[in-house]
Amino acid sequence: MRIDIVTIFPEFFDILDVSLLGKARMSGLIETHIHDLRDGAHDKHRTVDDTPYGGGAGMVMKPEPWGFVLDGILNDSGSPTPVLHDEVPSGGPLLIVPSPAGEQFTQGMARDLAHEDQLIFACGRYEGIDQRVVDYYSSRMRVRLVSLGDYVLNGGEVASLAMIEAVGRLIPGMVGNPESLVEESHENGLLEYPSYTKPSVWRELEVPPVLLSGNHGAISTWRHEQQIERTRRVRPDLLFP
Ligand code: ADE
Repeated sequence: MRIDIVTIFPEFFDILDVSLLGKARMSGLIETHIHDLRDGAHDKHRTVDDTPYGGGAGMVMKPEPWGFVLDGILNDSGSPTPVLHDEVPSGGPLLIVPSPAGEQFTQGMARDLAHEDQLIFACGRYEGIDQRVVDYYSSRMRVRLVSLGDYVLNGGEVASLAMIEAVGRLIPGMVGNPESLVEESHENGLLEYPSYTKPSVWRELEVPPVLLSGNHGAISTWRHEQQIERTRRVRPDLLFP
């Protein structure tokens, strides 16, 4: 999978070199390209923002630097030349714009995105990106506004990193033990059951005896009950949407 990230803070993404994602990049499963949005700003101060039309607080990201950098990415990845208002191709790159105004990011979405060939993350700052950027690129590729949750971050960088990690680990060939993916939180619509390892007693706290019984049927039933109980207590919205 090719991942392009457009940001005014390229150094935010140095973290992609470490951990599992670092390994995936070394092995060629993931190829990342970080683009500095300011490379698309051609004035002396490399300006990327301006005051909002209609007034209001904060600054809005100007469309021209986005156009310059996103055009460059599309050209580089061999996407067809633009035909405004033509039908959006079903394949090709997918532009993800992290935004608290977007659709909710879920494990299901991460699973779908793991099959994409190319994801482009457009990290906005300030009060967001001029709407015409989304409008224009919607005619050249699929575009999704995606929110991490109902809270506001300072920009799309942290949200992009979270999504890249959630998607990256689901790319076929990424995780050492595929079973660990099946059993984790959200994979069956429930939260994960609690886990224990040695020693069997720690500070007078015992591991639930069923886990030491060797009875796989009983263990599996107990774990499922724990999942339901935990989900009911912590996230009843998952059981009764
Ligand atoms: N940018 C700012 N807040 C965000 C959020 N909650 N999710 C995704 N991107 C964001």
